Amino acid sequence: MKDPGSRREGPPPFPTPTIVRRSATGPIELPVRGAGTVTPGDVAKKLHNSGIFTGGPPELFESAGRLQLATLLREGIYPFSKTLDIGCGCLRAGYWLVRFLDSDCYFGIEPAREMLESGIENLLGSQLVAIKRPVFSTNDGFDFSVFGVGFDVYLARSVWTHASRAMIQRMLDSFVETCNPDAFFLTSYLPASWIASLRKQDYRGKRWIGRSHESSVPGQVRHDRRWIEGECRARGLWVRQLPDKSFNGQYWLKIAKNADALKTFAAVA
Ligand SMILES: C[S@@+](CC[C@H](N)C(=O)[O-])C[C@H]1O[C@@H](n2cnc3c(N)ncnc32)[C@H](O)[C@@H]1O
Repeated sequence: MKDPGSRREGPPPFPTPTIVRRSATGPIELPVRGAGTVTPGDVAKKLHNSGIFTGGPPELFESAGRLQLATLLREGIYPFSKTLDIGCGCLRAGYWLVRFLDSDCYFGIEPAREMLESGIENLLGSQLVAIKRPVFSTNDGFDFSVFGVGFDVYLARSVWTHASRAMIQRMLDSFVETCNPDAFFLTSYLPASWIASLRKQDYRGKRWIGRSHESSVPGQVRHDRRWIEGECRARGLWVRQLPDKSFNGQYWLKIAKNADALKTFAAVA
């Protein structure tokens, strides 16, 4: 990774943990069930109803978040893992990860500011932010060096399902530049198929397809697993598709520099 001394000049990553700005929509009203008992699913419904994109269908918000934490646990995250959530959205995974991880261990990149601010305000809150000190960046160049730290765990859920080949290459380069020796990168993708009648061609366009800071049009793309494997090999990386069934059509890929980091903590019968 880059020497922290050579960090880019300019403003610090936004928002810094001590400055959590109010979202444009303001705090949302939630059913009162007792202190600390509002579920992320409840929050997602309210955010969705107030026009905030929640990263996917709001009815899957809670299960998609739980899935990300559960898979990371099985694949090797520790409370002390420095963890980067790429395209963290309104914290569908961040809700769980910020609570699980030690202070100063959660980092998120999300260029859609309103979405990010709504998540920070409604799914974390100022007390948790003060204790766990998550750090966020709104850079949209897939630059993982902006934080000036090396990471152990990288997560990109429903990101390669919208990204171009060049964006995926940039993420792999950024991973190589910033990862600690035993780091792993968990990313979901939609596999392409060469069978034309299935209409599952791989994406060769240049643009992000789907909602983002620049678009409100939904959409998804597919990528050829052999192409991804070639891009990993070219960078000296190992890659493995995890054996899990798909969730909302997406499969997990696990990528690492060190082959040992591809191991899974399988349940013992
Ligand atoms: C389908 S959402 C998934 C969000 C999150 N990973 C989750 O599981 O809820 C994709 C996210 O990627 C973000 N995104 C778009 N362009 C990006 C870029 N250049 N860098 C990082 N994130 C980006 C979008 O704004 C959106 O929040």
